[in-house]
Amino acid sequence: MSGDALPYTEHRHFAGRMRSGLESELTTAMADFDLPDTMRLRPARRPVVGSAEFRAAMSAMATTVSVVAARRGNERVGRTVTSVLSLSITPPAILVSIDIMSRLADVIARTGGFSLAMLAEGQQSVAQAFAGQVEPEERFGSTDWTEWPSGHPLLLGAVSALDCDVIGSIETGTHVLFAGAIIEAETTTSRSPLLWQRHHYQGLTGVD
Ligand SMILES: Cc1cc2nc3c(=O)[nH]c(=O)nc-3n(C[C@H](O)[C@H](O)[C@H](O)COP(=O)(O)O)c2cc1C
Repeated sequence: MSGDALPYTEHRHFAGRMRSGLESELTTAMADFDLPDTMRLRPARRPVVGSAEFRAAMSAMATTVSVVAARRGNERVGRTVTSVLSLSITPPAILVSIDIMSRLADVIARTGGFSLAMLAEGQQSVAQAFAGQVEPEERFGSTDWTEWPSGHPLLLGAVSALDCDVIGSIETGTHVLFAGAIIEAETTTSRSPLLWQRHHYQGLTGVD
């Protein structure tokens, strides 16, 4: 997960925004998912490690680089993520962790859906664009994007692509964990995934 700890008041402010947004959506029957529950994190009983030490240790983890995207009207938003978990087979569901203060978290909460594209080796420029190197409103213009029947963004050339309906969410303080039921899925065995490890993009076949 990314992002620094946020003041308590900002967390509550975000939850309030999500709730008021959902209420207005519900009156127009656009969203039919639960309000986010809060997983309140209590202080550890023992001193925790510093963030640099934590980041260094966690950087050993090799993860597939993905882009989570959502749409509200004409607005498309997306960001590069590595915090993705295959949650369950029944129902088919994943969990993604999205920075609570991001526009993406807000749009997912308001619309009740998102898409996920697991990037392929060779899509490093997409990863960099959606990690902040390209302005949010220009990210979808520079790549090969189409859309799912739901209207959620669909990236061509990914290793796997999923379209999801939100079936649950938990606010942790700095992030929202969205559980998404898989409505559509595409995959190919002809491409290899783009990995992130030790602060670098890598492939299964070697470091680039
Ligand atoms: C390798 C990598 C993994 C990331 N994983 C996540 C993640 O799981 N969740 C998240 O909210 N942000 C994650 N980020 C950060 C966002 O991609 C980044 O902060 C964001 O795109 C910044 O642009 P924006 O805030 O203008 O959208 C990750 C970034 C990188 C480079």
